[in-house]
Amino acid sequence: MPGDGIGNQVLPEALRVLTAVGFDADYIPSDIGWECWRNEGNALPQRTIDLLAKHKLGLFGAITSKPNKEAQAEVKPELQGKGLVYYSPIVTMRQKFNLDICMRPCIGFTGNPLNYIRKRVDDDYDEPQIDTTVFRQNTEGMYAGIEWTNPPENVRAALNSHPKFKAFAGVPGPDIAVSVRIITRPAARRIVTAAFDYAKKRGFKGVTICEKPNVVRETSGMMEETAKEVAKNYPGISLWSTNIDAQLMWLNKNPEDYNVIVASNLFGDILSDAFAGLIGGLGFAASGNIGDEVAVFEPTHGSAPKYAELNPPIVNPIAMILSAVMMLEHVGENDKAKRVRNAIAAVVREGKVRTYDMMRISGGAKSIAQGAASTIQMTDAILAKLK
Ligand code: NAI
Ligand code: MG
Repeated sequence: MPGDGIGNQVLPEALRVLTAVGFDADYIPSDIGWECWRNEGNALPQRTIDLLAKHKLGLFGAITSKPNKEAQAEVKPELQGKGLVYYSPIVTMRQKFNLDICMRPCIGFTGNPLNYIRKRVDDDYDEPQIDTTVFRQNTEGMYAGIEWTNPPENVRAALNSHPKFKAFAGVPGPDIAVSVRIITRPAARRIVTAAFDYAKKRGFKGVTICEKPNVVRETSGMMEETAKEVAKNYPGISLWSTNIDAQLMWLNKNPEDYNVIVASNLFGDILSDAFAGLIGGLGFAASGNIGDEVAVFEPTHGSAPKYAELNPPIVNPIAMILSAVMMLEHVGENDKAKRVRNAIAAVVREGKVRTYDMMRISGGAKSIAQGAASTIQMTDAILAKLK
């Protein structure tokens, strides 16, 4: 599912790497994204859902999405006025296949000029090795989509039954917006278990649950309580607990202390972007959306439309290639995964081939003239290091 914009530039690069490393697979192209919305009024067509249901493993590039007004204006004339609503195909995919575990590794490569550094008291600098994987609950919490502006009468009545709602009782409907944060115990158990399994596999000493149970007592409370239960099944791995606000401070001070962090949807989204910034940002941030049956791997970045038409393409394919590495690990092809990871590490360490983002220059047609590698040259360099 290359999708839109630069998704079409980076996904073929990942396939080149998978082929070179000898991953024996058929790749079935499928449609997703803005063009599908414009032509069919549906950004995730049923045929793509059917293919995913059948083949169970997806690689996804990126999609473009636009606010509702623009979405309505861009759908093709024959489909206008039919009451079609744009839904994010990513959210739909996560919900349809219950891809409830979002895994986002933020592992720094030595030699990456974008890596986090920290000043020392002697005015020198440390560059700690960051190896943090965030496990984000992917289907519920603040992103469950249960929300209203001007809540209907029965919802209002339910809210009124809560003593704390007295403070808002006099606010007129159109002036009040409500988003519901739902946590269920089974989903909490699954995300925490995924985090502990990963810690065990990697030999880490602890898992950090990052919530805010002192304030958001019920939902963060259930996350933490569930984490404590799950932790009992993993002797030798400690459960640490941090609050989301404090955690973001700690990640600026000592990010290397956190190897595995688990959180509900919104907090996990924030944490994973924050940690990704320490290891190179969007050009390096990969993710997996993992359900019981189906799993979809994708870079965290979007379709970057402003670079989509450049020839040669200039964006960094590493996030997409790392997403393919996660897919290899998911299906147990650990040796192939390691070979690709080592090849990327070698290219970054050597520092001869760098895309524009790694040079801290602005992207555009001029980047190549300034010495930046193209998307394809970056992949070529990785392929050349593949052992
Ligand atoms: P974006 O991630 O597409 O781009 C933001 C900026 O990050 C780019 O302008 C570029 O400077 C940089 N960037 C992104 N990927 C890069 C790469 N591989 N190498 C080097 N630099 C890279 O986010 P933006 O601009 O907010 O959104 C553009 C479109 O993408 C929107 O329509 C948005 O809805 C969609 N989007 C889709 C996502 C997805 O498919 N998972 C995620 C985020 C945004
Ligand atoms: Mg995000």
